[in-house]
Amino acid sequence: MANALPSPAIQLHNGVLIPQFGYGTYKVRAEDAYRAVRDALEVGYRHIDTAEMYGNEAQVGAAIADSGLARDEVFITSKLNNPYHEPQAARDAFAKTLDDLRIDQLDLFLIHWPMAQTTNYVETWQTMLEFEADGRSRAVGTSNFQEHHLRAIIDATGVAPALNQIELHPYLAQRQLVQLHAELGIVTASWSPLARGALLSDPVVLDLAQEAGRSAAQVVIRWHLQRGLVVIPKSTHRERMIQNADVFDFELSAQQMASIDSLDQNRRVGSHPDRVELGDR
Ligand SMILES: NC(=O)c1ccc[n+]([C@@H]2O[C@H](COP(=O)([O-])OP(=O)(O)OC[C@H]3O[C@@H](n4cnc5c(N)ncnc54)[C@H](OP(=O)(O)O)[C@@H]3O)[C@@H](O)[C@H]2O)c1
Repeated sequence: MANALPSPAIQLHNGVLIPQFGYGTYKVRAEDAYRAVRDALEVGYRHIDTAEMYGNEAQVGAAIADSGLARDEVFITSKLNNPYHEPQAARDAFAKTLDDLRIDQLDLFLIHWPMAQTTNYVETWQTMLEFEADGRSRAVGTSNFQEHHLRAIIDATGVAPALNQIELHPYLAQRQLVQLHAELGIVTASWSPLARGALLSDPVVLDLAQEAGRSAAQVVIRWHLQRGLVVIPKSTHRERMIQNADVFDFELSAQQMASIDSLDQNRRVGSHPDRVELGDR
């Protein structure tokens, strides 16, 4: 087992520390997830992002349990799936997530999508707060919430999500929402940080990679880290997991950051939060 990566930690508004760099498990098939998470932990990852929707929580939980790491050495995030917003359904889904992950306490539990057309997500947020209050999740937050969703839940409860996980990469830099998060004390996490791989053949990124003597993925991951974002790239290949994590010994210059900033074009690789409904992913 390699030492933990030298990832900085970011403090959530309730004092809990989250490692800024983690491992994403979306599209890691259930049959591959045990090996992939064992590999990630072996090479030093200590923050795993999963979700009931990904269909791999049981395998993720088994890999963490078998890793030999103490529970407090691994930061685990999971998410409430779309069909389970109603309060009792949310409580049951949260209990099942803990069971599947084989843990008594989650580090961070997020509402996966606001589902604003069909659910009362304010009530869902009130239920999420129970899980932090009873100590079964060290922190709670949201995913794919936009400004109006955030304002609605904060207005109703006075409590902001600790973190909002949103699609964010150089093609979709989300400057306004990140600024709002900062004002509201919400940490931003970037999902699909490599734009699912689309950025890795971008000529601007490839030029910078050559200039820095690093890979395209490493350059993009540095951009997230230097913007202060939590970043959770996914790969099922151990050598790419190692490569993606080898980003703590170099820095992009202000000029290199600005070149990547210039790629922003409001381009999504995933679903728009207003268009995800029951059954979608
Ligand atoms: N909250 C949400 O709604 C939401 C939505 C989407 C994602 N997420 C989270 O964010 C995580 C990351 O997003 P993502 O999985 O969509 O996309 P991503 O991390 O941006 O990109 C993953 C893709 O890039 C490839 N890749 C990774 N590292 C590489 C490297 N060094 N060289 C070449 N190719 C590389 C992977 O291929 P291989 O696996 O074949 O290496 C995979 O095809 C997810 O796993 C999930 O945990 C959350």
